[in-house]
Parts: sequence; structure tokens; C-alpha cells
Amino acid sequence: MTARALLEVDGLHVRFPMRSGLMQRVTGAVHAVSGVDFTIPRGEAYGLVGESGCGKTTVARAVLQLVRPSAGTIRFDGADLTAMSARELAPFRRRVQAIFQDPFSSLNPRMTAGDILAEPIRVHRLVPQPEIAERVGHLLDLCGLPRRFVELYPHEMSGGQRQRVGIARALAMEPDLIVCDEAVSALDVSVQAQIINLLADLRRELGLTYLFIGHDLSVVRHLCDQVAVMYLGRIMERAESEPLFATPAHPYTRALLDAVPDPDPEHEAGREVEPLQGEVPSPSAPPPGCVFHPRCPVAIDRCRQEEPALASVGSRREAACWLAEPKPRRDTSIKKQEVSL
Ligand SMILES: Nc1ncnc2c1ncn2[C@@H]1O[C@H](COP(=O)(O)OP(=O)(O)OP(=O)(O)O)[C@@H](O)[C@H]1O
Ligand SMILES: [Mg+2]
Repeated sequence: MTARALLEVDGLHVRFPMRSGLMQRVTGAVHAVSGVDFTIPRGEAYGLVGESGCGKTTVARAVLQLVRPSAGTIRFDGADLTAMSARELAPFRRRVQAIFQDPFSSLNPRMTAGDILAEPIRVHRLVPQPEIAERVGHLLDLCGLPRRFVELYPHEMSGGQRQRVGIARALAMEPDLIVCDEAVSALDVSVQAQIINLLADLRRELGLTYLFIGHDLSVVRHLCDQVAVMYLGRIMERAESEPLFATPAHPYTRALLDAVPDPDPEHEAGREVEPLQGEVPSPSAPPPGCVFHPRCPVAIDRCRQEEPALASVGSRREAACWLAEPKPRRDTSIKKQEVSL
């Protein structure tokens, strides 16, 4: 444990009961998260990437205490959230806020932005009553929205503006950690870049810490200091952002990066891409050995029998693979400059 860690997730498992038949009997379990560990130092942005269904949202929901883990601990600012009663959790809930993909469904359509932002401040008595309006105005300023937005309803705003209100509402609670689950995935590319830049600015100005979940690897690379790559509920590789993208050590990380199209059509045409074969297996029946072996282009016998643990493959980087080795990528299709400032 490092003194500066804000969030420490250790040995996290989340299982959901699988029900079937008329009586909805429990007939199995979906092992959505199977032993995930990561630590986010205060003030850092931590990225979680991986294909659909690998358990990213479930990790986020566990951190937000929306789902109870089956095993493992989640320490926030040194305190184990998993051991707390609902009452003990209350102060921590304010300090960990979330921003989701679709703010439209999470913003009350009958409330103006002003009311949406004032409500948590009032409920949690964060400032005295006469100061609430000024506080709301300040939140709009922080998120790059004109103050006249206090009068607007969500349907009167663009997707990007709604997401700014979603961010302002999270900030209203004065959180330490913000969990962003696909927070920019539904937006147009140019709007995505603006929201990413806003998140980066807010982090600097307010000293925020982020757990950032995303499909778009160039966005994650731009915003995050460290990244964990998940597959079937497990972390396959974790490292600082730059080395992970430049010299991925796990065959799955390489495959994910290779799947991103090259923005230059001439490059793209000449690029040798070996697409990942097959489907992601069901988390209710994971394959034996390394769970990635049925789709891995370099699997050997050992991979079919023994599951590799995360092990060091260099300074501050680890991969769960018997053949892990940091290798430069064949092409440079993902560049940091892609999200222009
Ligand atoms: N409440 C639930 N009950 C049963 N199974 C669930 C539940 N929530 C998630 N799962 C299953 O757990 C696995 C992980 O789901 P999760 O939503 O965490 O993935 P994800 O990585 O966020 O995917 P995506 O990129 O599509 O958002 C999936 O197989 C999913 O079907
Ligand atoms: Mg998800």
C-alpha cells in the first residue's frame, strides 16, 4: 500500500446469479469480475479498457458501492468500503461520484440545470442556503457553460452540453474520485475531445482522481496515467499509459491495439492486421488455463492448462501471460496527437 493511494481494489470478485426456467431458479453464476487488483494514486487518472462484457462496468459499480463484491476489498482513502454498513458508507458516497455514457437518462427532464445542480448542494448542506445560487453559477463556469443555462431543461441542450451538466452535478458533491463509465463514448469526435480536455483541466484545477472506462483507446491514452486491460473479468496487462501503448506485452493488448483502424487511409490499406479470431467466451463457463488461449495467436500447451498470474514484465508494468514480452508495435496507428488540444 502506498501512502498516496486514493483507491485500492484488491482481489475483487463479483458474481451474479444466473436464473432460468419458470421458477427462476438459480442455475449457475456469471463470474463478471474474477480477481481484479489495481491502485489509483491520488490525483491520477486510471484507465480500464477491454471488449464489451469483460466486466468494466461491474468494477465501476463495485467501486460506487452499487453492487456488493462476492470477495475482495475496496479501500478508499485507507478505509475498506466493503466492510461498512450503509450508514458508515454515507460520507464516502458523496466523495465518489459517477459520470455515465448517457446523461440524458440520468438528468431529470422536468428540472432545469439550475435545479439539477442546486439539489445535491441543498440535500447535503454543502453551502449555506443564500450561497447556493452563486455555487451553481460557479459550477457552470467550471464546466464551460454560460450562466444562462440555469434556466434550461436537458432537452434544450446538445449532447455535449448535457454531459457538461452531468460533470457539474458530479462536481457539486465536491468528490475526490470520479468514475467515468464510457463518459464520452456517445458523443461526436469533436465534442469528445472538448469533454476530454475539460476533464483533464478539472483534474488539474481541482486535484481530482479518475477511474476512466473507455472503448476508445486513443482517448484513454490521452487522459490516463496508467491503464489496465481487462478480458473476461481479469486484468491481462497493466502499465503506465505510454509503455503500454508503445510496447504492449500481452498478446491480447496487441490484438486490441491492432483492431483500431489507422486514420490514414493509405496506411490502413497496406496494414497487416490479424483480427482476433472467435468470440469472447461466456463468463459463466470460462475456458481452462489462460482464459484468452482459445483466441490467442501464440498460445502454447501450457496456456491451455495453467492460468498465468499477473507478473512483472518491466519497470512498473505487469502482464498475465506465459509468453509476455514488451514488443514495439508494427504500426503507429494510435497517436497521442489524435485528440487535438
Ligand atoms: N446484473 C447482472 N446480472 C447478471 N449478469 C450481469 C449483470 N451485470 C453484468 N452482467 C454480466 O457480467 C459481465 C460483465 O458485464 P459488464 O457490464 O461489467 O461489462 P462491460 O465491460 O462494462 O461491457 P460494455 O463494454 O459492453 O459496457 C457480462 O457478461 C454481463 O452480461
Ligand atoms: Mg460497460
